[in-house]
Amino acid sequence: MKPNAFYLTTPIYYVNAQPHIGHAYTTLAADAIARWHRLQGQEVFFLTGTDEHGAKIAEAAQTAGQSPKLFCDQIAGQFQKTWQNLNIAHNYFIRTTDAKHQAGVQFFLKLLKEKGDLYESDYQGLYCTPCENFITAKELTAEGFCPYHQKKPNIIKEKNWFFKLSKYLKIVKKLIETDKFKIEPLARKKEILGLLKQKLADFSVSRPNVSWGVPLPWDKTQTIYVWVDALLNYLTVFLPEDKIYKTCFQLKSAAWFKKFWPPDLQLMAKEIIKFHAIYWPAILLSLDLPLPKKIFVHGFFSINGQKMSKSLGNVINPTEMTDKFGLDATRYLILSQFTFGNDGDIKENNFVEKYNADLANGLGNLTARVITMTEKYFNSKAPQDQPSKSANQKTPEQIITQVWLDYKTAFNNLALDQCLKIIIDFTQKLDQYIQKTEPYKLIKQNRQKTAKVLYNLLESLRHIAWQIMPFMPNTANKIFEQLGILNSEPNKLLSEAQKWGGLQVGQKIGKKEILFQRI
Ligand code: MSP
Repeated sequence: MKPNAFYLTTPIYYVNAQPHIGHAYTTLAADAIARWHRLQGQEVFFLTGTDEHGAKIAEAAQTAGQSPKLFCDQIAGQFQKTWQNLNIAHNYFIRTTDAKHQAGVQFFLKLLKEKGDLYESDYQGLYCTPCENFITAKELTAEGFCPYHQKKPNIIKEKNWFFKLSKYLKIVKKLIETDKFKIEPLARKKEILGLLKQKLADFSVSRPNVSWGVPLPWDKTQTIYVWVDALLNYLTVFLPEDKIYKTCFQLKSAAWFKKFWPPDLQLMAKEIIKFHAIYWPAILLSLDLPLPKKIFVHGFFSINGQKMSKSLGNVINPTEMTDKFGLDATRYLILSQFTFGNDGDIKENNFVEKYNADLANGLGNLTARVITMTEKYFNSKAPQDQPSKSANQKTPEQIITQVWLDYKTAFNNLALDQCLKIIIDFTQKLDQYIQKTEPYKLIKQNRQKTAKVLYNLLESLRHIAWQIMPFMPNTANKIFEQLGILNSEPNKLLSEAQKWGGLQVGQKIGKKEILFQRI
């Protein structure tokens, strides 16, 4: 039982090339989800990192004319820097070249062997190095290419150690069907159940002729297959430091493991679902460990209708985006592009349009107007909050409960783009409320009524700041600052913060600051 802890992971990314917007998409989603759970008072363990072994990385290092380790250090450093620039608040960054991880992988392989779940045999078939995947002829496109890389796979014949997947397939299927091991969205669950209907072959856990990898402890001609090495990161992170690992008790008695295992949510895109939804649970069953509660599989996006690729020169670097739009706007633009869970296309031209519409002219302009009117009409103090009735339009106070309800439902369904839409819709309703009540005219006729209107607007901004916090944490703080409550407000519990009336009447508000410059 782990009542108040939440364990969340992203895939660990290959270091064959620099981080791009695709990696940023999953990591930003994970960050927003992690922040949302922290806001609700949960202790979150958010793990991300880099996948550094295997033929693909060794080849990339060779092309760059560097030793694999030096090459990995550089690119892993770039991933860390990019996450820092994007204000990602992960709790741990794991690298598969970390000594602890490597010792841990060897330890878990020994446990699988002791269990009797590994055997030696020959593999003869296809291998896609960019995927690091033993691929079957059925999976190829009509031209005989790997569907993800549009390249012909290699034909290989080699000795491998294999994992007895067949022993666990029935139980994995049952756990997926009964949602004990949830796969979302539903279409992905169906896809995996479809795959499980076919006869799936046992998979390799080791390869010869791949020197850049973790040696198999009992057969030095082999290194551990990079996917097995990589999947185990979700587990090795919990091993105690600097130990010779002998029994599973060492893992099970580790405080962090007891607190956080199993993962509550594992995020990834659809191309790596087989590894996470079939191989990974089978390995865990063999190790007698509880399975993740849920994996959520989001779609793949293209850029301006084309697959993102170095050769097409259309790879978007997240740092270029932060230079142009600023940090929080980049976070917003990446996550609001299309439905989280579906495939989508990123149209770069849309970024500027959306930035101006939703952020500069939307949230930013609304905040500026409300703060300016409060300065001008009420000497920078939150005015009297008189109960008011509006015959022909709902006041913000009357709709806020529904806004929160919709927002929470969307968040709990991981409809992240929907959460953002709910917030922007609310800012639009507030703009309409200003148009309707015309506080800039009303102030000349009825000061008391104007006070109520402005109180409603200021208090709504406070709610919006809470709602954008998982997505745009710096902007949330800037709004609190302009409302004069930066020192006190973030200490509140969410349950308290979401009640109407949290802004004290008479609160001295801060100075107006432009949140998003128009582009
Ligand atoms: N190293 C493996 C994962 C091992 S996890 C135990 C790997 N690495 S990767 O660098 O190729 O990263 C794949 C992941 O990056 C995807 O599953 C997804 O999370 C993210 N994305 C990369 N490109 C993307 C898009 N174009 N669209 C959406 N997500 C993208 O696979």
